[in-house]
Amino acid sequence: MSETARELLGEIEAFLALFQVTPTKFGVDAVNDGHLVAKLRKGGSVTLKTADRVRAYMASERSEQPAAPRQAAASHRVLLIIGGGIAAYKCLDLIRRLRERGIAVRAVMTKAAQQFVTPLSVGALTSDRVFTELFDLDDEREIGHIRLSREADLIVVAPATADLLAKMAGGHADDLASCVLMATDKPVLIAPAMNPRMWLHPATRRNVTQLKADGIALVGPNIGEMAERGEAGPGRLAEVPELVEAIIGMLAPLVQKGGGNLPLVGRHVLVTSGPTHEPIDPVRYIANRSSGKQGSAIAAEAAALGARVTLVSGPTQIADPPGVEVVHIESAREMLEAVRRALPADIAIFAAAVADWRVATRSDEKIKKAAGQGAPRLELVENPDILKTIAAEKGGRRPKLVIGFAAETQNVIEFAKKKRRAKGADWIVANDVSPETGIMGGDRNAVHVISEDGVESWPDLDKGEVARRLMARAANYFAERTAPV
Ligand code: CTP
Repeated sequence: MSETARELLGEIEAFLALFQVTPTKFGVDAVNDGHLVAKLRKGGSVTLKTADRVRAYMASERSEQPAAPRQAAASHRVLLIIGGGIAAYKCLDLIRRLRERGIAVRAVMTKAAQQFVTPLSVGALTSDRVFTELFDLDDEREIGHIRLSREADLIVVAPATADLLAKMAGGHADDLASCVLMATDKPVLIAPAMNPRMWLHPATRRNVTQLKADGIALVGPNIGEMAERGEAGPGRLAEVPELVEAIIGMLAPLVQKGGGNLPLVGRHVLVTSGPTHEPIDPVRYIANRSSGKQGSAIAAEAAALGARVTLVSGPTQIADPPGVEVVHIESAREMLEAVRRALPADIAIFAAAVADWRVATRSDEKIKKAAGQGAPRLELVENPDILKTIAAEKGGRRPKLVIGFAAETQNVIEFAKKKRRAKGADWIVANDVSPETGIMGGDRNAVHVISEDGVESWPDLDKGEVARRLMARAANYFAERTAPV
């Protein structure tokens, strides 16, 4: 990636984050649409003429629009150490998302990080100085690495490169980032991002094992395509909503210690999430497109409000939200069993896309093709309905608030109302999962919350925001109708 392209991308990311616009809405007059941003994010190049046009466009927009509102008083403080990787641009959005939630962010950037995003862009979003040098006399006199650590509740390293992991595991302290990490007594969360071969290298494996043993928390990396053409595997930086969840999950217990407004302290919240896999034989299964993102976001949000959270999750590609007890299961029957074991709960939220049917008799051996006999016939039987079963529990085992989801592709509200009655749920969160909505597997969701009071339709939101609103609503409902713990 050329210097111009890298710098331009940094400026564009800061602009998008500051004005809360998506790449596709970007630069109507300057460039066609978001293709330029997508291309730059993949490491593509840009002509000087286009770069000038885009810069001129951003400058004119900046002079016309006020920036997104900043959070007045921050209740928690994160020191974000930005490592040098192409994924560093995601930190810009991460900073904005954290600040929206009242979390103050101060940034340290490694030398390599500054090759990908500029301290100027980062500083514009943190509204603070960006710290880059260990031996900057001014910085050391005014605010050295010890104070950087002391003034934070949590240290987050994102993207954590192979080199940063090696330095941390080996106890090196030869630049500001590694010095802060050596000098800190605060919890540390790292979000690794690197080429899959580097992630799978024995040296990185050793370093990760060591860091875990040292009590360092990890989020990601995810499996997927790399910025380099044709590269795929484990090594993608966790997505911003996952990073936010992980950070909130780690901040919540710290806040609990210090008190604070946590309406779900002392409550148990149970969440199901993800798809289920129904085995056909040892290598094949029936599944669906659920990503588990919405359920995971709900679990993280419940933890952030102070609840003890059990997340029963089917197989997904996303990281476990920290601060949440996660029970991994595969099939619907295993999910029901895990849910039953987790009871009693105050609130139960059934966000999982449970397979309705399983194969009647699962084969213990791989089913072979037999010449001339055609395809095998699979007999399906119905799975237990977990939501319905739990909503019908008696003797105080029924959670006080039972929330189901309804995944529909037509007549969304009408079908969801019927589901609420048929399953005995207090609320149903209905969404349209037709492929064109991009909800199943995507990062956004548009839902209708159906309760005995009627239907409340929410706008298209990211799944983290849906989780936030849903849990705030649940906390309110709970506070109004139940006695304090
Ligand atoms: N659900 C469940 N157990 C099942 C099926 C569904 O707990 N075996 C829960 C889901 O987690 C969700 C709600 O029931 O909260 C509705 O799921 P959905 O897939 O929309 O509906 P189904 O009951 O499967 O009905 P249909 O597929 O006919 O729409």
